[in-house]
Amino acid sequence: MALDTPTIAQTAPAGAPPELVSWVAGVAELTLPDAVHWCDGSVEERDRLYDQMVASGTFIRLNPDLRPGSYLARSAPSDVARVEGRTFICSVDEADAGPTNNWAEPQAMKRTLAGLFAGSMRGRTMYVIPFSMGPLGGELTRLGVEITDSPYVVVNMRLTTRIGAPALAAIASGAPWVPAVHSTGYPLVDEAGVTRPDVPWPCNDTKYITHFPETREIWSYGSGYGGNALLGKKSFALRIASVLARDEGWLAEHMLILRITGPDGRVFHLTAAFPSACGKTNLAMLRPTIPGWTVETVGDDIAWMRPGPDGRLYAINPENGFFGVAPGTSEQTNPTCLHAISHDTIFTNVALTDDGDVWWEGLTPEPPAHLIDWQGNDWTPGSGRPASHPNGRFTVHASQAESISPDWEDPAGVPIDVILFGGRRATNVPLISESYDWQHGVFVGATVSSEQTAAAEGLVGALRRDPFAMLPFCGYNMADYWAHWLRMGASLGEGAPRIFQVNWFRKDEDGHWLWPGFGENARAIEWALRRVAGEVDAVDALSGRIPVPGDLNLEGLDLSEHDLAALFALDPQAWAAEADLTEEYFAQFGDRLPAQLTDQLAALRARIAGAG
Ligand code: OXD
Ligand code: MN
Repeated sequence: MALDTPTIAQTAPAGAPPELVSWVAGVAELTLPDAVHWCDGSVEERDRLYDQMVASGTFIRLNPDLRPGSYLARSAPSDVARVEGRTFICSVDEADAGPTNNWAEPQAMKRTLAGLFAGSMRGRTMYVIPFSMGPLGGELTRLGVEITDSPYVVVNMRLTTRIGAPALAAIASGAPWVPAVHSTGYPLVDEAGVTRPDVPWPCNDTKYITHFPETREIWSYGSGYGGNALLGKKSFALRIASVLARDEGWLAEHMLILRITGPDGRVFHLTAAFPSACGKTNLAMLRPTIPGWTVETVGDDIAWMRPGPDGRLYAINPENGFFGVAPGTSEQTNPTCLHAISHDTIFTNVALTDDGDVWWEGLTPEPPAHLIDWQGNDWTPGSGRPASHPNGRFTVHASQAESISPDWEDPAGVPIDVILFGGRRATNVPLISESYDWQHGVFVGATVSSEQTAAAEGLVGALRRDPFAMLPFCGYNMADYWAHWLRMGASLGEGAPRIFQVNWFRKDEDGHWLWPGFGENARAIEWALRRVAGEVDAVDALSGRIPVPGDLNLEGLDLSEHDLAALFALDPQAWAAEADLTEEYFAQFGDRLPAQLTDQLAALRARIAGAG
């Protein structure tokens, strides 16, 4: 029996606006849940869901002496990561999704979804999660409501966004909101009324992560994992928000945000875009090795930015927590993160120790003698397979990081001085270089790439372009997105942040890393900030402006002259080959490609010719 509108209305909290109630009733009529629960975001609600998931086998309560308030979930082996191949931008016109997105015609997709969602919550509770992206009351803050049949999603959304009563009150006062519907696609009762038992990780082999940019809706089916299911993150804060930002004159970016204080007390803010799996969380919690510099975390993954009244660009972190990759996190690579996740953390797909704690590859130099792996099987170091999934995750509230910045929840945002673009390049791209101007910076961001890991080192052939680290996250045509960036730069003028490109991943002829990375990355950042402060000159080079020899602070670092030279080596021939690849890559965007980017490619070729 469907829950009808009057019944749903009775379940709704006081103040829920009628259009929200009727939308919830419509989704209930389609998905046919047994019950509706409106999330208030309270600790009591969280604890009830934790207990319920421990009882159902979705959660394992970790040893409270070792990892208080923390839980481990194991997903189905078929549901372990974002599914880019099943992610769709359903704009009316295919050209508006552009050549880098999967496109589907919106009406046809709506029909497909209606078929899949019909009865998909039978036998389950449907949760309604009002949430806020950004601190409530801020100009950049936006609201959403996620409907889900997954209590795992509720408790993760509670850590990564601001859910519950305050968000609902803002919606009730008339603020626009983005509707987002999620179902794991594992009903417990079929059409004939036959029931089946639940499983610890419900999901469906059929998966659709769909976005409707014109109507600003999200529908996600079949996955319970990460960005597929926690719809505030990639789906709203990047794919839908990038469309809102284009239309409203701001920027929704896949960037971390840092607050950096120099030895003289001067405060800078920086954002940085890196493709997934390039150490973004480590950079977000960087502990500088150079004396006198302090780095604090404003955000680890997403930045929303808009021009402020003073003409500078202001950024907020729209999220409330971190959903980070656990493997590789250690006392050496990211001690701040390790502290943050020492309590009140949800772990997914990492290994369980015999004393009820978690373990993952890289956490300790020696693995424990026995573990239960991420699939729930016995594991020993001789098992010949990883104990935790490489995309195993932690979910934690941002305030648990001791590096969290005092201004991280400022609704006005923080003024940005520097934007960094980074990829994972064994060759060609120097440790750091500064863009000649905003247009050049947009060209650099548009062409950022990483070598495919399978590619032979030293070859320029197999580059995976990940423009602005937004390839899987831009909700519209990438060429239009670049045009939007160019427009934003033109309107910011002198107030625009300075743009730098960094590369922590360069290798020597023998395939060894040239740069130690991690805390030492502060040295490159220091140079960028000293450029902003007008303290150092730079040398014009192919890639942009690079440090005058001696200006990069290398004190206390054991780096040979040879390696230093190799970190900044710029080979005109290799750059010419790369320029040809850029031309090919740009060609797919046809006449949507902004002319300024063609001009930038010509300028690069002129620099190459001059250097050759
Ligand atoms: C992430 C990603 O999980 O970028 O943040 O994939
Ligand atoms: Mn990310």
